[in-house]
Amino acid sequence: MTLRKVNVVIILLLAVAFLIIVQRNLLNLSDILHMENPVAGKSLPFESELSPDLGLESVRKGEEISVLITAVEERLGAVVAAMNSVYQNSKANVVFTIVTLNDTVEHLNVWLSKTQLNNIKYNIVIFKPELLSGKMSKDSPMLQDAQPLTFARFYLPVYLPKAEKAIYLDDDVIVQGNIQELYETNLKPGHAAAFSDDCDSASVKGIIRGAGNPNNYLGFLDFKKDAIKQLGMKANTCSFNPGVIIANLTEWRNQNITLQLEHWMELNSREDLYSKTLAESIITPPLLIVFYKRHSAIDPMWHVRHLGTTGAGKRYSPQFVKAAKLLHWNGHYKPWGRTSSFSNVWDKWFIADPVGKFNPVRKSPGDH
Ligand SMILES: *[C@@H]1O[C@H](CO)[C@@H](O)[C@H](O)[C@H]1NC(C)=O
Ligand SMILES: *[C@@H]1O[C@H](CO)[C@@H](O)[C@H](O)[C@H]1NC(C)=O
Ligand SMILES: *[C@@H]1O[C@H](CO)[C@@H](O)[C@H](O)[C@H]1NC(C)=O
Ligand SMILES: *[C@@H]1O[C@H](CO)[C@@H](O)[C@H](O)[C@H]1NC(C)=O
Repeated sequence: MTLRKVNVVIILLLAVAFLIIVQRNLLNLSDILHMENPVAGKSLPFESELSPDLGLESVRKGEEISVLITAVEERLGAVVAAMNSVYQNSKANVVFTIVTLNDTVEHLNVWLSKTQLNNIKYNIVIFKPELLSGKMSKDSPMLQDAQPLTFARFYLPVYLPKAEKAIYLDDDVIVQGNIQELYETNLKPGHAAAFSDDCDSASVKGIIRGAGNPNNYLGFLDFKKDAIKQLGMKANTCSFNPGVIIANLTEWRNQNITLQLEHWMELNSREDLYSKTLAESIITPPLLIVFYKRHSAIDPMWHVRHLGTTGAGKRYSPQFVKAAKLLHWNGHYKPWGRTSSFSNVWDKWFIADPVGKFNPVRKSPGDH
């Protein structure tokens, strides 16, 4: 071989290597583009020149943390704020599953793709209200304003078929800690879920009593009914709040938790088993029965609640609210409404609706 021929071969090899490298990078780029949400097409990652970390953010790796949340059209701003708070306060590979109704999908997709949330990984699942037919009595006044979507948490393994462990969050929460910590909540062997107990510590107990909420089973279930008596549960057992759930979905499936919950819903629709004074959600009683003495505990700071009840602003100091890992505005007064406590905290995570349909009610300068 002459020297010239050798040079040509080397140049050819270099050219091939160069093409391979270019192609690989292009492939990776297209991977990244395709990995993101279907509607995010308009804002490509490399267009976000102004915030360089955004590009890095889009490739969060590591163990997937599945978070399930429901989205109700009238309070879509709540879901967006909750998701934003989870995402911004953690570097973990969070994947949201959002359960919603068909009519909400488009609005939600626009909100998540046209704003700074466009790197969030999510998938949307449509809730089928038929799921609940025959399990709720139509005439019970308690059910009048019940949102069918609140029952989605009974079906966690249905919506998360691939996950082994998952977090369920109500939409009226803000997460201030790293969600990875909540995810790592230890579930005892044989337990399908962890909840935050209503009398975990003296302070939580006082706060819940002060807010006029029941903190034991008697507040949720009618212990005069045979079906309840037969279970032999102690009426003064501490209740728990199902607004935040950590679930082991393997255990959930093995123990047929969903079937059991459905059984109690059906029975209640015939025999009215829930407490007459039930103030909290109708979601709670079946969970209390099925998870009686069979659930693990969530760190109280990971579910600081009752921010939506009257006087929350007096019960909690701003320092305590700041230190909380998760805040829950359960109760009547929502932080996107006019008269809620600590709505300034919620405002930090809210992202304006690009379509302009959802607007938090805020005092206008002329109001006072
Ligand atoms: C492209 O992706 C492949 C496989 O996913 C990976 O091995 C390679 O390091 C990536 N290259 C770059 C430049 O990111
Ligand atoms: C869901 O909505 C889309 C349009 O928004 C419509 O084409 C489709 O038929 C709807 N599906 C159901 C099951 O209602
Ligand atoms: C879930 O429960 C199964 C069955 O008890 C157990 O083998 C598994 O380790 C648990 N997974 C987690 C993440 O706790
Ligand atoms: C769960 O349900 C299946 C099918 O209905 C049944 O075969 C099984 O015994 C149940 N397991 C438990 C633990 O109840």
